[in-house]
Amino acid sequence: MTPPAAAIATLFDLRRSTRKLDPATFPPALIADLAAATHSVPSAFNAQPWHVVVLQGRNAAFWDRIEEAFAARLVGDRRARYLARAAGMRRGGMTLLIFEDFARAAPRDGLTDAEARDQASQSLGMVQLALWLTITAHGLSASLQHWHAIVGAGIEDVALDFVGLPSDGYRLVSFMPVGERAEPLPPREEAVGQFSAETAASASKR
Ligand SMILES: Cc1cc2nc3c(=O)[nH]c(=O)nc-3n(C[C@H](O)[C@H](O)[C@H](O)COP(=O)(O)O)c2cc1C
Repeated sequence: MTPPAAAIATLFDLRRSTRKLDPATFPPALIADLAAATHSVPSAFNAQPWHVVVLQGRNAAFWDRIEEAFAARLVGDRRARYLARAAGMRRGGMTLLIFEDFARAAPRDGLTDAEARDQASQSLGMVQLALWLTITAHGLSASLQHWHAIVGAGIEDVALDFVGLPSDGYRLVSFMPVGERAEPLPPREEAVGQFSAETAASASKR
């Protein structure tokens, strides 16, 4: 295996979802490396339809707002469960907010609205993985969260308002709490997605 192949295989293997974090010391190069990842990752038409905000100094204030929204809008077990999850994520000390920029995701080159939305989603997936692998490469842990879709509770409005983005120009795609892993690593689940590859020899026999 070449060194770059070994490096990326290691990175893919090390990247896991970590939902319970301890405070981390963030390496000085991390922010520049995250920015570089968003510049070099591919996107449809090179439109880069994202707006990424890294919260560090205001991380606690952001999570206070999330917890206020849960306390106000959720009840019973669900409220207790999500407040406990938030407590495990805010401790890391850094949160990435990933927004879609509607203007840059708009249809181009005759694409329908649905095709443009699909291509923008694929581009947003690329940037999220690039950010996650960069975090992993710095020895830190993260997870990808979509509480605004799963729980609602006004989380998207909280995130947009917190960073001053208008809801008619942007939507929250996901957020990534970052820190040190504070939970055991579960074994990887069995692969269920299909993958097959032809060799040149097997293809010529067809
Ligand atoms: C598009 C997408 C959405 C996800 N949404 C969530 C989420 O809302 N909450 C969460 O805890 N994990 C979420 N995950 C993480 C997956 O559950 C996780 O990647 C998968 O179970 C494999 O585990 P691993 O990341 O440890 O390899 C999401 C992953 C992807 C790619």
